[in-house]
Amino acid sequence: MGHTERGDVVIVDTLAAVAFQAAQRVVDLAAQAIAARGRFTLALSGGSTPQALYTLLAAPPWYDQIAWEFVHVFWGDERFVAPDDPESSYRIAREALLTRVPIPDVQVHPFRTVGLTLEESATAYAATLAGDGQGQTPRLDLVLLGMGPDGHTASLFPGHPEPAAPGETLVVAVHHAPKPPPLRLSCTYRLFNHAAHVLFLVAGADKAATLRDVLQGPERRALLPAQGIRPLNGTLTWLVDRAAASALVSHEKKGNG
Ligand code: 6PG
Repeated sequence: MGHTERGDVVIVDTLAAVAFQAAQRVVDLAAQAIAARGRFTLALSGGSTPQALYTLLAAPPWYDQIAWEFVHVFWGDERFVAPDDPESSYRIAREALLTRVPIPDVQVHPFRTVGLTLEESATAYAATLAGDGQGQTPRLDLVLLGMGPDGHTASLFPGHPEPAAPGETLVVAVHHAPKPPPLRLSCTYRLFNHAAHVLFLVAGADKAATLRDVLQGPERRALLPAQGIRPLNGTLTWLVDRAAASALVSHEKKGNG
């Protein structure tokens, strides 16, 4: 489908192809960032779609194409569960990728989900993200995101008013999330839209109608939070499989592999 006003849409045949294309992009962006600034800051996504990517990155040929000693990993959102809970996005990424690559532990930055209230955890992670940036909005090199069939992204869900406008806070505490578990933490548009690159990975026919609405329908970010991802000065790419792309306006669709 190519370039649209809502990002570059790359349609590939399968989830495996989504993961392959994503792995290539992670390798390329990491090399660019490390060459330019000596580090690569990456926010991982939860959910099942990116797990195929994590598995690829942890094995040849991709494994040693990234200088992991210069990589810093964050999460775009997290479930408020213990780090060893099967639902933990941190645990999933650790097992699939982070324990299999030589990334220093101090460069892996999970949400704290034990010993803090949800709100305290959100505040703590905002400080982690901000670092010594004196209130500046951090600019991550790459943010990976998924999209739910209801149009949510990260843990920004339809109709869930946030405690503060997304433009003001970096991280929100999410109660009653419609996708279990109900207690979550999510970075907000302020962080996501300051990233240098945002890469959505979307697969499956159950997302087709929503993807069409997000990419081709009217602007309704309160109902379709994924529409609110609009990097102010960065790239936005949608890597989607043919099933998820099946409801897009057909005359514009061109395959990309
Ligand atoms: C989560 C994710 C969530 C996910 C979408 C898509 O914690 O579950 O942050 O936003 O990316 O729900 O999930 P799938 O990839 O499993 O379809």
